[in-house]
Amino acid sequence: MSEIIARPESAEKIFIFDSTLRDGEQTPGARLNYEEKIEVARQLARLNVDVIEAGFPVSSPGEKKAVQAISRQVEGPVICALARTVQKDIDEAWEAVKEAKRPRLHVFLGASDIHMEHKLKKDPSLLLEQGVDAVKYAKKFCSDVEYSPEDATRAREEYLYELIEAVIKAGATVINIPDTVGYAVPEEFGAMIRGLRENVSGIDKVTLSVHCHNDLGLAVANSLEAIKNGARQIECNINGIGERAGNAALEEIAVALRIRGNHFPYYTDLNFSEIYRTSRLVSKLTRISIPSNKAVVGLNAFAHSSGIHQDGILKNKETYEIIDAELIGGKAAQMCLTARSGRHAVLDQLNKLGFSLDREQLEKIYDHFVNLADKKKEVYPEDLEALVLDHLSFTEPRYKLDYMQTISGSKSIPAAVIRLRRDDDSTVEEVAIGSGPIDAAYNAINKITGLSISLENYRINAVTQGRDALGEVQVQMSYQDRTIKGRGTSTDIIEASVKAYLNGLNKLLKLNGYQ
Ligand code: KIV
Ligand code: ZN
Repeated sequence: MSEIIARPESAEKIFIFDSTLRDGEQTPGARLNYEEKIEVARQLARLNVDVIEAGFPVSSPGEKKAVQAISRQVEGPVICALARTVQKDIDEAWEAVKEAKRPRLHVFLGASDIHMEHKLKKDPSLLLEQGVDAVKYAKKFCSDVEYSPEDATRAREEYLYELIEAVIKAGATVINIPDTVGYAVPEEFGAMIRGLRENVSGIDKVTLSVHCHNDLGLAVANSLEAIKNGARQIECNINGIGERAGNAALEEIAVALRIRGNHFPYYTDLNFSEIYRTSRLVSKLTRISIPSNKAVVGLNAFAHSSGIHQDGILKNKETYEIIDAELIGGKAAQMCLTARSGRHAVLDQLNKLGFSLDREQLEKIYDHFVNLADKKKEVYPEDLEALVLDHLSFTEPRYKLDYMQTISGSKSIPAAVIRLRRDDDSTVEEVAIGSGPIDAAYNAINKITGLSISLENYRINAVTQGRDALGEVQVQMSYQDRTIKGRGTSTDIIEASVKAYLNGLNKLLKLNGYQ
């Protein structure tokens, strides 16, 4: 696996501010109920994010109750609540987070001309004062106050500098720069962060944060560029969910910082092995599915489909994989067999299934595999197993039924005599009792083989009509970790049952290499 570069002594910490429960919940259709919010918050604490933005308490009594419960119950991260620059919002937000061990209030107000003129319809100098007053008011309750000039990337530079300087003087401890509409491009955004550091007095006393939306698909790139230029808190969401096209994806930022440590001498305190689980939990509870090609957590992120890639991976994982799935607590590389898969990948899957085929057998199975893969887009391990069992008939079954007799009746104990012929032509016979004649016959077969096979399912169907109908029995049986199906037909249902059992038994023996 691509080596994770050891963290240099001078590496600086990047604080991870997770807004899945606030901006993430603004994703159309992603409503979480009270219990679900608490469950997500608990998982975020296991992931060890630095800050959980738990919600926007003034928006509804239910939201406030959930933020309150998270503040009481979830330990570890800072618990933050969002508020507009009005006292009612700040009061509600404080009520919701005041019982957290480490509370934070996050106030925001539009800072671009378009927001000030058309949405807020107020003079910029009045709005600047409003922001300052809100910070001062929030500071009365909470020492940790974050300020966000909304739509900062479309704001006038001089206004932004003046505003930020003023809110820092008023007591803000974190200054967050939102790219509210996902308008920025990396170089420009990096320069903006650098400009703030060089021109705003007091900025070195606060944590500089960014909050990037993904309208142009640049949220992660912008966040990384901001880090390079001095941002030390990244606001991001699990699976990149959020308003419109979403926010920067937490897992992508975290893994990029880790894998490309040579470019990014920074670290996070995230518990990486919880990433996959958190991603799945958020997807399940928000009912927002993860695109299969999504970086880091998508179903296909560690799957290899092309024959050339599969061959490379089998020779050395690093040929086509830069991230080890285990890093994020995910599953190891999957080979998804398709018509493009080569013999090497098919053979590897066959070996995993317990088959060791010679060259001739492999060629035969490979031909059948290609035909099947042409019809079916993906060939699963079970399909491959069925192909082998159906087509490697050149191997004689280990046991055939030679003779059977069963006794049953209302006054007798069901019993069976079974004689089987082995592939070396020798015969072996056993007698057993059971709860019925079929059970007795199966017990006799188990005595012969010495294997304790368990019967998981039994089904009988008539395949022809009339009194002499041909009965077909299907059984599902398991031995050790393997489950297999057997099938047998006869006009005598007990004989059909014995044949089905023997059919399954012979497959199991083949799979387990007892040939
Ligand atoms: O996108 C945005 O501007 C926000 C703020 C509330 C930080 O979500
Ligand atoms: Zn946002």
